Amino acid sequence: MFITFEGLDGAGKSTQISRLVSRMEKAGGAVVVTREPGGTDGGNLIREWLLREDADWTSIAEAYLYAASRAQLVETVILKALAEGRHVVCDRYVDASVAYQGAGLGIGEERVREMNELAIQGVLPDLTFLFDLPVETSKLRTAAGRGRAPADRIEQRSVAFFERVRAAFLRLAKDNPERVVVLDATRSADELEQDIWETVANSIHLGKGARFS
Ligand code: TYD
Repeated sequence: MFITFEGLDGAGKSTQISRLVSRMEKAGGAVVVTREPGGTDGGNLIREWLLREDADWTSIAEAYLYAASRAQLVETVILKALAEGRHVVCDRYVDASVAYQGAGLGIGEERVREMNELAIQGVLPDLTFLFDLPVETSKLRTAAGRGRAPADRIEQRSVAFFERVRAAFLRLAKDNPERVVVLDATRSADELEQDIWETVANSIHLGKGARFS
């Protein structure tokens, strides 16, 4: 299965990704864990460019950079892992571009999907967990987690930007109910872990996703 995690920063995705992966591994699954932007050497270089405070990318350039990192990841990591019968768990994927660049920056959700068509080579997740939480909570948690380090270029954006991103994620979930599971990210980590595990175990049991092994 190809599983992605989406949502605003500070939603607790990383914690849940490691908990899910250890459960999957304990159950005997082979899992490749990766993230966007990044996940490859080239992708990590692009990640640095994207998050640098002094980068003055235009919206379109930014969207193409995320797509470039993704193209590298799909071809060299995701497709390979799936072909070898491994599960892939990815921290953010194309839905993030649709929400952040499409809705947040105002490029347009459909246009961003089109910009990503070549990059993803038709590879869409079997299951996506959307961590939903209020923008204020996201901002507070991100600031607390950062300590004294400066906010990166994306984190510095306005509340209105993140409200558009959150709304776009929720629309995506509404339009793709067979794939996207919305989780209230203000719930406890243990409760979230349990829900996620039940959904994944159930999907595997039902053979959801052509690539399940
Ligand atoms: P992330 O790895 O979640 O950041 P951190 O390491 O600080 O938790 O993602 C980096 C930022 O990039 C995050 O603010 C969301 C943003 N992003 C986009 O704007 N578009 C995209 O397509 C992706 C994948 C991420």
